[in-house]
Amino acid sequence: MNGCPVEIVIPEKCRHLDQNEEWIKIVTDDGEETVRLHDYGRFYQIPGLYDNFYKSLNCQSPRVVCETLKAQMEKLGWNGEAVRALDLGAGNGQVGEMLTRQLDCETVVGLDIIDEAREAAERDRPEVYADYYVMDLADPTEDALQNLSRWKFNTLVTVAALGFGDISTRAFINAYNLLPDDAWVAFNIKDRFLSDADDTGFSETMNELLDDSFELLESRRYCHRLSLAGNPLHYYVIVGRKNGAASYN
Ligand SMILES: C[S@@+](CC[C@H](N)C(=O)[O-])C[C@H]1O[C@@H](n2cnc3c(N)ncnc32)[C@H](O)[C@@H]1O
Repeated sequence: MNGCPVEIVIPEKCRHLDQNEEWIKIVTDDGEETVRLHDYGRFYQIPGLYDNFYKSLNCQSPRVVCETLKAQMEKLGWNGEAVRALDLGAGNGQVGEMLTRQLDCETVVGLDIIDEAREAAERDRPEVYADYYVMDLADPTEDALQNLSRWKFNTLVTVAALGFGDISTRAFINAYNLLPDDAWVAFNIKDRFLSDADDTGFSETMNELLDDSFELLESRRYCHRLSLAGNPLHYYVIVGRKNGAASYN
C-alpha cells in the first residue's frame, strides 16, 4: 500500500498517551491500519503523510533549529567557508531543504538509520542531499567513518531525532567527533532529557558535552509540536560551536 491516506482517525484514547506511544488510524483505499507517530518508516512510505500530519500538529522544529543556527552564524560571523553539513536523522529531508534554502551550503549530506527515510528523501526532495547514508553511527566501522570524513563537514544538524530510542548518545557523539573544532552544531532535544530527572543517560552526556567540548551560543525552550491532545511538547533548541572532542560513558 503506498497511496495517499484518504482519512486520518485519532481515537479518543490516543489523546492521553505519552509522546512516543501516540498512534493514529489511517484509512486508505487498501483499508485501515494503525500507525504509531514514531513509526517513521511507515509515515515516510506514504507520500505527504509525514509532512502533512506533523504540520497539522504545528511541528516547528526544522524551522526553529535552522533559523536559530542561521541567526547565530550571522551574529558571530563565519569564516567565509560555505556550509558542509551533516543532517543526522535526516528523515525525508525537511531539514536538509531548509538548510539549503537558508544558508550558503556547498554540501548537505543526509544520514538516517532506515531505508524508508532515504527512499522518501529521494522521492520528495531529490535535489537536497549530495549523498544519503543509511547507517547507525552508534558503532560505526572505520570505513564508514573515513567515508563520512571525506565530506569535511563543518556543521552538524540534528532535528527531532535524539532520544526516544532514536539516535543514541554514542551515535550523536560519534557524529560530533567527525567535525573539526569551531564547527557549528545545532540540535534540539526534549526538555525532559536535559533535566535532573532524566534516566536515559542523555542529560549526563549532554551536560558533559556542554561543559567540556562545546561553546554554547544559544539555548531556548520552545514548543516542538502539539500532542494529539493539543498540548504543547517542549524541546530545547541548542546552537553552538565545537571546541574539543567529546566522549560518551
Ligand atoms: C522525527 S524524525 C525527524 C526527521 C527530520 N530530522 C525532521 O526533522 O523532519 C526522526 C528521524 O531519526 C531517525 N533515526 C532514528 N534513530 C537513528 C539513528 N540511530 N541514526 C540516524 N537516524 C536515526 C529516524 O529514522 C527518523 O527518520
